[in-house]
Amino acid sequence: MGLLKFPLLALLAASLPAFAAEDNAALIEQGAYVARAGDCVACHRTAENGGPEMAGGYVIDSPMGKIISSNITPSKAYGIGDYTEQQLADALRKGVNAKGQHLYPAMPYTSYQGMSDQDIHALYVYLQQGVKPVDQPVPETKLAFPFNIRQLMFGWNLVFLDSQGFVRKPGASEQVNRGQYLVDNLAHCEACHTPRNVLMAEDNSQYLAGAKLGGWVAPNIT
Ligand code: HEC
Ligand code: HEC
Repeated sequence: MGLLKFPLLALLAASLPAFAAEDNAALIEQGAYVARAGDCVACHRTAENGGPEMAGGYVIDSPMGKIISSNITPSKAYGIGDYTEQQLADALRKGVNAKGQHLYPAMPYTSYQGMSDQDIHALYVYLQQGVKPVDQPVPETKLAFPFNIRQLMFGWNLVFLDSQGFVRKPGASEQVNRGQYLVDNLAHCEACHTPRNVLMAEDNSQYLAGAKLGGWVAPNIT
């Protein structure tokens, strides 16, 4: 008995970590795909071109003022190295960071609110294990009063944050649903191509009908 058991256990012990490592590599790859589709790097790049990816510091000109993107590398001091998966999910879906601060909607959480658990899981594993930590702080965002009061976003979210997640179109094909998930949520096309009202919320009566973005125009893509 003992002799028979031993090789079996040894085999199991040897093969388990190998399976785990393979699973992880697949998850990291899937998470990298989610990060590309969600275009995190478009905003979480560094201010200078060619700087490390996801290290933040890039300045976004908004009608409320200049908003600086965060370091989302797994740096424990300056990035999201201490984030739990739930905290990443809350930043993406609720616009609340790990310190409990409300993020400005320059971070497109109003779109990401519909991201699937599966995509967030893969993205989390990728950001924690597939991205190099960059121990570099970003300058603090300092908006003028009243926009410097992050708590104001709580009220804005109550009115404008649709938090029901992705809702499948009944009767529509798998492809149509996948496309809608990309346009409205993960790839957030609508965040740029739908015009905003005076309170910076998307005007859904003009869904994808084109919008001004700083010095750019995102054309009508209906
Ligand atoms: C259109 C620009 C934009 C895109 C795209 C974007 N972000 Fe952000 N993100 C921001 C900005 C700006 C902030 C800081 C907002 C603030 O200070 O209120 C931020 C903040 C965050 C934070 C909070 C960090 C902290 O601890 O305060 C996390 C986490 C985050 N983003 C993750 C992501 C991930 C993951 C993606 C891709 C799926 C992504 N972001 C895509 C602009 C963006
Ligand atoms: C960060 C903002 C932003 C996001 C997100 C975005 N776009 Fe755009 N898009 C623009 C801007 C700005 C232009 C115009 C670029 C130019 O004039 O060269 C544009 C141009 C286009 C055009 C060309 C239209 C024409 O008539 O010339 C298409 C098509 C398009 N986008 C589709 C999409 C789709 C599909 C997505 C989502 C997968 C998307 N965009 C996401 C900002 C954005």
